[in-house]
Amino acid sequence: MQKLLINGKKELSGKISISGSKNATLPILAATILSDQVKLKNIPLVKDIFTMVELLKFIGLKVNVLKKKNIIIIQNLDKNIKTLAPYRLVKTMRAGVLVLGSLLTKYKKAKISLPGGCAIGTRPVNLHLFALKKLGAKIKIKNGYIIAEAKNGLKGANITFPSISVGATENAILAAFSANGKTVLRNCAIEPEIKDLIKFLNLLGGKIKTQGRKFEIYGCTKVKKNISHEVIFDRIELGTYMIAAALVGKKITFNKINSRVIQNEINILKKMGVKLKSHKSSIEILKSDNIKKINISTKPYPNFPTDLQAQLMVLMTRAHGTSKIKESIFENRFMHVPELKRMGANIEIKNKTAIIKGPSKLSGAEVMATDLRASVSLVLAGLVAENRTIINRIYHLDRGYEFLEKKLKNCKARIKRI
Ligand code: UD1
Repeated sequence: MQKLLINGKKELSGKISISGSKNATLPILAATILSDQVKLKNIPLVKDIFTMVELLKFIGLKVNVLKKKNIIIIQNLDKNIKTLAPYRLVKTMRAGVLVLGSLLTKYKKAKISLPGGCAIGTRPVNLHLFALKKLGAKIKIKNGYIIAEAKNGLKGANITFPSISVGATENAILAAFSANGKTVLRNCAIEPEIKDLIKFLNLLGGKIKTQGRKFEIYGCTKVKKNISHEVIFDRIELGTYMIAAALVGKKITFNKINSRVIQNEINILKKMGVKLKSHKSSIEILKSDNIKKINISTKPYPNFPTDLQAQLMVLMTRAHGTSKIKESIFENRFMHVPELKRMGANIEIKNKTAIIKGPSKLSGAEVMATDLRASVSLVLAGLVAENRTIINRIYHLDRGYEFLEKKLKNCKARIKRI
């Protein structure tokens, strides 16, 4: 099994290029079922994307990945389509459940494996099914599968989500895309990745309008051919490397991004004393010695993302005083805490809140990665720790971070995979 070795305390400088967003690409790939031929640019070549590609091929789409160009070309010739997402392809990558909305609206039926729980929580799909039922789908659960049918097609409806879910909003948008008539979705998730999905669907001929958390979708009757879409940058990857820069950077620059998308994170880092210059499409982080404590709660966009909680916690170990971070989205997302403590962090968990007393001097240790973002927090801890850190089970990292070692090595980090 592969491991990462990091010799910490090395000051980093240079430029880090940010890949396309994994979480925007996944629903857009699910949406290609609705098209005939599309070209997607700026695709991150990470494991989750390849799993989704496998799923689309299984369903019957033709997929051509141009690795050197980060481009995927997809054709749906509408021949030999299987309206099935098997367990083996959904169990490792929950976003597989997103093909449900597309298959159901286009082919009037779908059988999708229930994704089940994962390291960070139980992760139910009740909100996805709630929206699809409102659109007229008949749904039953049998042998671990969601079996959905809409014999006469889906019908537009008024749907108010009882709570905010990224995946459920995406599945509902996909299902409403070619439902008959108008759908109004309320209390939607408004993550930039959802906005990117809507941009893609509107290119495809959709009529989707957004106003805050209210989305209006007019059923599309004619899909446009041969469209091309460039996926937005990965704001979570950017946030991760911004925190790395705050921890050990001398001068690190990020270009070709849109700083407005992560304005909240920029403000939080500035409040923590990080020396940061932000422009419209670039950010520069300078050596930041005096990190201040802060209290944060994870919440849906535009608030602080749960996907950056573990990484920010590493920065909090460097802060003077006691910081708190409350995890309000997932019930089991503090798996990195015992590992950070083994590296010398002073962290206590009380209910949903981690209390971090700083500053702590971290020292290298052999640690175990448990999920995608927890893994990368251990990389950040390894970069700032004294001596050597060995990270096990790094396949989690490969699910979501493109060229991680290469990007860090370019900035002079001492990191290698064995
Ligand atoms: C997406 C992201 C993930 C991120 C999360 C929250 C992708 C591929 N993944 O995951 O990286 O951490 O948003 O920003 O984009 N819930 C229910 N019932 C449902 C659906 C969700 O109770 O049917 C709950 C979840 O358990 C969780 C909360 O709602 O507590 C938010 O989850 P959701 O926004 O759906 O996350 P995902 O779409 O799975």
